[in-house]
Amino acid sequence: MLKGKTIVIGVSGGIAVYKICEVVSRLRKLNANVKVIMTKSAVEFVAPLTFQTLSNNEVYTEMFNKISDWNTEHISLAKEADIFLIAPATANIIGKIANGIADDMLTTTVMATKSPVIIAPAMNTNMYTNPIVQNNIEKLKQLGYIFIEPEEGILACGDKGVGRLAPPSDIVETLINNLVFKKDLKNKKILITAGPTMEEIDPVRYITNHSTGKMGYAVARASIARGADVTLISGTVTLEKPKGLKKYIQIQTALEMYDAVMKELDNNDIVIKTAAVADYRPIKKEEDKIKKKQDNLVLSLTKNHDILKAVGEKKGSKILVGFAAETTDILNNAKEKLKKKNLDFIVLNDLKKEGAGFGSDTNIVSIINKKGDITHYEKMDKINLANIILDMVKFKSSSLDDIN
Ligand code: CTP
Repeated sequence: MLKGKTIVIGVSGGIAVYKICEVVSRLRKLNANVKVIMTKSAVEFVAPLTFQTLSNNEVYTEMFNKISDWNTEHISLAKEADIFLIAPATANIIGKIANGIADDMLTTTVMATKSPVIIAPAMNTNMYTNPIVQNNIEKLKQLGYIFIEPEEGILACGDKGVGRLAPPSDIVETLINNLVFKKDLKNKKILITAGPTMEEIDPVRYITNHSTGKMGYAVARASIARGADVTLISGTVTLEKPKGLKKYIQIQTALEMYDAVMKELDNNDIVIKTAAVADYRPIKKEEDKIKKKQDNLVLSLTKNHDILKAVGEKKGSKILVGFAAETTDILNNAKEKLKKKNLDFIVLNDLKKEGAGFGSDTNIVSIINKKGDITHYEKMDKINLANIILDMVKFKSSSLDDIN
């Protein structure tokens, strides 16, 4: 996947250095060419030989390279980099970069590079939240440096709080997103809904559906990878949250999803509604558990808002994509939904086909546009389908830009 890409990793000193060994190893398995620069203090934590062995490349340290070497080396490394990662990034290294200090191999190379720079901070929580560090981070963000936020947890010093290096999987995902995908949705603001809603019957039971959120999360991942600002409104799912979201809103019921969508609508240009929303909810949630006294039990339900329809009514020039899950008369039902809900596209799932719909990693769909043109697709991974939907949205959006 990363064949032909050179990733330069600047490792600064902190207990999290050992986690970068795994990052290097994962990147090598993806066939990237990895070059590691270590600061003087990084070498105190992990021996350069470890990185040399894992990367299969020479490691740059001040210990092994004379100052006269790095004067030229840093320029060629800086040029070679398709992307630059600094991880773990200490308060010191962030401060140096933010203030134009270049006094060692790592800082001179970062200063000389034209490649995107990704910074993954790791430090004590009081240091991380210190306004001086935060100002430096803000300054770098304004200049286009990309940050992978540290996590909250118990830190090596025993303190609890934000400051723990992001997991290696997140770091690798961010590198892939920035290396592999074209940023053709930069500046687009996309609102995505995903997963099922849950409508409570009593304190123990609820009504829901088979949605796992996989389609919506794939659309969110693909949108982030292509540079969009993504807000994800999600029902209860077991999936890992995509990295790099602008906003994540967790909801449970259709009413909560309705409120969240309506609140976020004006901040977005594109709305993609993959969520499987319950059409009905119990008229009232019983305060106590319903006991099994009767042979037959009738539950009274009332209609939920049709969120997509409500968005369609006030969408203006926003692009609106809906999904349709059908089992009978599928094309006509989908066309009707497209019209009734004022959509630009509807993605139609035939739930009776194997490999389509809920739970699977693949989908089999047809996409219908406003004019009624239908494109049928073979079975494909949800992430590929996500990119096809985004291609259509992008095409529509650029033609709208031309008109405006
Ligand atoms: N949808 C919604 N709010 C609802 C129901 C559905 O926003 N209360 C959205 C879904 O997110 C999806 C689209 O509408 O994008 C179609 O959902 P689907 O369940 O196929 O259709 P319904 O409109 O609910 O119609 P029906 O159940 O009669 O097929």
